[in-house]
Amino acid sequence: MVLQTRLTKMLGIKHPIVQGGMQYVGISALASAVSNAGGLGLLTALTQPTPEALRNEIRLCRTMTDKPFGVNLTFLPAIVPPPYEEYVKVIIEEGIKVVETAGNNPGKYIKMFKEANIVVLHKCTAIRHALSAQRLGVDIISIDGYECAGHPGEDDVTGLILLAKSSKLLTIPYIASGGFGDGSGLAAALALGAEGVNMGTRFMCTVESPIHQNIKEAIVKADERSTTLVFRPFRNTSRIFKNSVAVEVNKREKKLDVQFEDVRELVSGARGKQVYTTGDPEFGVWTAGQVVGLIDDIPTCEVLVSRMVRDAENIITERLNKIYVPNSKL
Ligand SMILES: Cc1cc2nc3c(=O)[nH]c(=O)nc-3n(C[C@H](O)[C@H](O)[C@H](O)COP(=O)(O)O)c2cc1C
Repeated sequence: MVLQTRLTKMLGIKHPIVQGGMQYVGISALASAVSNAGGLGLLTALTQPTPEALRNEIRLCRTMTDKPFGVNLTFLPAIVPPPYEEYVKVIIEEGIKVVETAGNNPGKYIKMFKEANIVVLHKCTAIRHALSAQRLGVDIISIDGYECAGHPGEDDVTGLILLAKSSKLLTIPYIASGGFGDGSGLAAALALGAEGVNMGTRFMCTVESPIHQNIKEAIVKADERSTTLVFRPFRNTSRIFKNSVAVEVNKREKKLDVQFEDVRELVSGARGKQVYTTGDPEFGVWTAGQVVGLIDDIPTCEVLVSRMVRDAENIITERLNKIYVPNSKL
């Protein structure tokens, strides 16, 4: 039995599970493993230092899977923005069929992808943003709740509310993101009207994820209180792993009139990247979601995806089916 949804049909994949874009983690090793497991793997465009490097990574990924995979392109505030148009051009030229967009003002680029007949999955954290993306012509919304790793936005609304509200207001398909990591989450997302789930942290902690084993083990050891929010004073909130560096960032952020300069040296991307290569979880800040509290092993992507689908199917056909009593006299 398989869980067939509008997502699986639109993307030509077997299981309704997407691996979200992940800076420094979403490379061909992971994306191809997720796609080979029947989900949708995504390469993270900006992890590649140049558009040409992304072209090479796409070509490498094609040698590792014959299943569909996509590319994530994230638009974040930057003093010197990456050459977005060139990344878009490479994605189109390389014949990528599905793109995950995320971040600020993606309108112009969404238009470019749609003109190239690419399926656009837009990730956002607020109903009002989902509605404007729908108006812009995106095909699928990925709605990221407060639990999520990375940027949960500034509204602090949980996935439970965002998903139920999406089912009332969106006319295009949507998937659930943030806090998903097992079959019960998948079944719950489907019950809330989603066509599947998007996961970041859970896929970080798999055999094929290209980060150091120590970091995967730190995720397994962590519980649901092991993340924290930083950058709230700068309205660029981010959920990260709660290590000593993150605690120090939070401490400095309590200062009245705190400026980014006050925390800059602690939060540099270079330090964060070294966490994944050196395996020292205290070396810098690194992204993780509250779902760390549900993660207690390091499976292959194949084992993870098939276990989630099997467990979701059991919940739907056994547990939910059994509690339903037709024509009860009570
Ligand atoms: C290590 C890491 C890096 C991430 N980097 C990005 C990114 O560059 N762009 C993006 O759109 N989302 C990024 N995300 C967010 C994920 O794509 C996804 O939305 C999020 O992880 C969902 O929450 P979850 O971790 O609870 O599954 C990242 C997440 C993680 C764990």
